Amino acid sequence: MSEKTIQKVTLPFLRKMKKKGRKITALTAYDFPTAKIVDQAGIDVILVGDSLGMVVLGYENTIPVTMDEMIHHTKAVTRAVKRALIVGDMPYFSYHLSSEETVLNASRFLKEAGANAVKIEGASEKRLELVKTMIEADIPVMGHVGLTPQSIYHLGRFKVRGKEIEGAKQIVRMAVDLEKAGVFAVVLECVPMELAKIITNRLEIPTIGIGAGPLCDGQILVFHDLVGYSNGYLPKFVKRYAELHEVLNKAVQGYIEDVRSETFPEDKYSYHFKSKKDLKELK
Ligand code: KIV
Repeated sequence: MSEKTIQKVTLPFLRKMKKKGRKITALTAYDFPTAKIVDQAGIDVILVGDSLGMVVLGYENTIPVTMDEMIHHTKAVTRAVKRALIVGDMPYFSYHLSSEETVLNASRFLKEAGANAVKIEGASEKRLELVKTMIEADIPVMGHVGLTPQSIYHLGRFKVRGKEIEGAKQIVRMAVDLEKAGVFAVVLECVPMELAKIITNRLEIPTIGIGAGPLCDGQILVFHDLVGYSNGYLPKFVKRYAELHEVLNKAVQGYIEDVRSETFPEDKYSYHFKSKKDLKELK
């Protein structure tokens, strides 16, 4: 696609995709080169997820991730992206105190980092009010229900949510309330596919599933899981499209071997003096 013909993905475009039954594609990205690859491949939505805490910063969970870390990584992503809609994930405790603080933090994603929208987890009464306040401030918001990793200490561990009637009803209610509050899309994480289907049919806004089966309006995965950047634990819902850790390991091992055996850098990777005369003088 030439630069001129690239049309930025917008909120109305996503709504139209749902109406037409065209699946929305989404992935996480946390840095410039990854965002460039993902955008140029044609992804519709890039989430700078707070999963960056676990995936690239090495935290145990997403709780320690700060606003400054999120802004730093979101800036790198927005510098690379031409087409995809960019969503900045609001980290734990950036939308938990007051509406003023929430709007200020959310606005940083748009003003400082160049994102197009923000995402928050949960749908308590207070959260719904915050969503309305952000939208009032012209900040588009994406919702997130089902497994919400920022509630890890309440949940105990990451597991499928809404497998039984009461939990399922609560998740439907949360999704409906978020739509009423004005979110433009909602992530359904780790819920039974039957529940995801019911929610998807019930809502006019798109649902984006992760571990929620094939019947959502779109799908999102963590980039590093998709490409096999590391070979650690992999949830059941992840399909691997590459084994990058193997490729990278091989490349680094090759480099180590070449340096140790003095086969790198060979002549074609080295520079030479312009004239023999200069070299002679230097010697
Ligand atoms: O932070 C993240 O990567 C997410 C996705 C899993 C939806 O919230």
